[in-house]
Amino acid sequence: MCGIVGYIGERSSLPILIEGLKRLEYRGYDSAGVAFIENSDMIFQKTAGKITALEKLLVGKKYSSKLGIGHTRWATHGEPTDINAHPHLDCTGKIAVVHNGIIENYSSLKKFLKEKGHRFITDTDTEILAHLIEEHFEGDLLEAVRIALTQVEGTYGVGVICLDTPDKIVAARLGSPLVVGRGKGENFLASDVAAILRHTNQVVYLEDNELAEITKDNFIISTIDKAHVSPKIQDISWSLDMIEKSGYPHFMLKEIMEQPATLRNAMRGRLNFEEGTSRLQGLNLQYEQLHEINRVIISACGTSWHAALIGEYLIEEYARIPVEVEYASEFRYRSPIINPGSVVFVISQSGETADTLAALHEAKRKGATGLGICNVVGSTIARETDGGVYIHAGPEIGVASTKAFTSQIMVLSLITILLARMRNMSFEKGEELIKALDKVPEQVAEVLKKDDDVRHLAKRYYKKNNFLYLGRGVNFPVALEGALKLKEISYIHAEGYPAAEMKHGPIALIDENMPVVVLAPKDSAYDKIISNIQEIKARKGNVIAVATEGDDDIVSLVDDVFYIPEANDFVLPLISIIPLQLLAYHMAVLRGCDVDQPRNLAKSVTVE
Ligand code: G6P
Repeated sequence: MCGIVGYIGERSSLPILIEGLKRLEYRGYDSAGVAFIENSDMIFQKTAGKITALEKLLVGKKYSSKLGIGHTRWATHGEPTDINAHPHLDCTGKIAVVHNGIIENYSSLKKFLKEKGHRFITDTDTEILAHLIEEHFEGDLLEAVRIALTQVEGTYGVGVICLDTPDKIVAARLGSPLVVGRGKGENFLASDVAAILRHTNQVVYLEDNELAEITKDNFIISTIDKAHVSPKIQDISWSLDMIEKSGYPHFMLKEIMEQPATLRNAMRGRLNFEEGTSRLQGLNLQYEQLHEINRVIISACGTSWHAALIGEYLIEEYARIPVEVEYASEFRYRSPIINPGSVVFVISQSGETADTLAALHEAKRKGATGLGICNVVGSTIARETDGGVYIHAGPEIGVASTKAFTSQIMVLSLITILLARMRNMSFEKGEELIKALDKVPEQVAEVLKKDDDVRHLAKRYYKKNNFLYLGRGVNFPVALEGALKLKEISYIHAEGYPAAEMKHGPIALIDENMPVVVLAPKDSAYDKIISNIQEIKARKGNVIAVATEGDDDIVSLVDDVFYIPEANDFVLPLISIIPLQLLAYHMAVLRGCDVDQPRNLAKSVTVE
């Protein structure tokens, strides 16, 4: 959600903080700030807007500070104004705090602190922390933070510095990720490894209820109950070029274009041609356990939820196991029925989404096996599941998820084949599906080569203000995802519908100003989809069809066609989503939108 970065060492901290914040900006970008100790002063600068606005405030100022913390915000409590930006300070201006998460009991703490004489100047929950730490500070910053946090209800990843202890940063985590990065004669703090990858690839992930006292040569980790923790140092395999734009104008376009490679990575070592099945050891389930699965529940948010819906179609049709898909935010608050034999998959690109994590906890509390489909290795969800499958898509920086979506579908397809082959599916069918998956990266590359055609299409339609996306069967969730891509980055209103359901309401919207994107590949639903197209044309709607190469008949029925290669029904969503991702991208660019950082959104939503 928000981003935290911290540095302590021999180098000038400010450029490191600013660069780190820029790497984190995709996490939240409505305001930003830094605090650092310069000689014997606590200096802070903060502003509404993006990191470039913060940089402007610092231009021409020569600071040599070797210790500081920074923050980029996605507002929860209090508007994104200069004053509400982090870091927040105590009354004396000696203690500075950056915070991700939410302090739920902030109003009672505020009342308590006001009675003690603390003066508040912001609307944020975070400011409470600065004053609470001040209240408990008696020369030992770690201790003051520890006591303060015992009084706090909610979630936090925090970084704290103090003028009276100018040789350390104190950090703590509960429900909001933090890593400590190890350097030589310098150490780092970040909410996401991307912020510090330029400087180190050795990190320690803090666990919930852990605190770190970070000095330039060392870091000591302990629990909130003062137990010592031996740090587990992990090497990050992501490289710097993976988090850079590599010549593309936007991360989103780079990530769309990477899909042939990311899909290959999601399959690597997992296709078993000899036995017509897949290998997924990370599930940590024995053959008998996999065989006993009699119900699958999949829970997720946003784009990952759309991938889950595709998983539902695939698993039910091919493995014949009943599947339920539920928004994580709903699942967590009802009392789901979990029987023996139920497994719960949670899908999360970031592995940090608060609702998805809570859904996982709820499932496990009820005795289910909780499995994960995650991208970020070592993320909270990945660590808390009983087993799972990494999608290996590499860092996804664009707020609109693209390559993670297709890799999630790829993994769900592999799970489908694994479960199906243990049940009713023949070797021949399994082999056919494995071969179909193996061909997908090439087919996706073919579609991507026609990016220019999509751009031309976008030019014809980008001024329209409403879109409908229709699909049937497994292409219905693709329609939902296509509509989501468009609305989140171009702010054009778009809705996805099962094509036949259009007659029960949305058809009332159709006129010459309503473009309708129809997924019409040559699959088992083709004839029915053609009838739906006729219904739209009869009402003067504009139809943009995504059709199978060689389908010349469709040309006379629709206004525009984009062709995708012929493919097995099983893999169609992996291919049919590509033009919709490109269409959303180009329309957003043509409308002058900030594609990688759309308004009001954040890459990873670590609050409820
Ligand atoms: C946010 C992002 C979406 C994403 C959703 C779930 O809303 O903007 O792109 O699909 O969170 O994220 P996750 O990391 O759990 O897949």
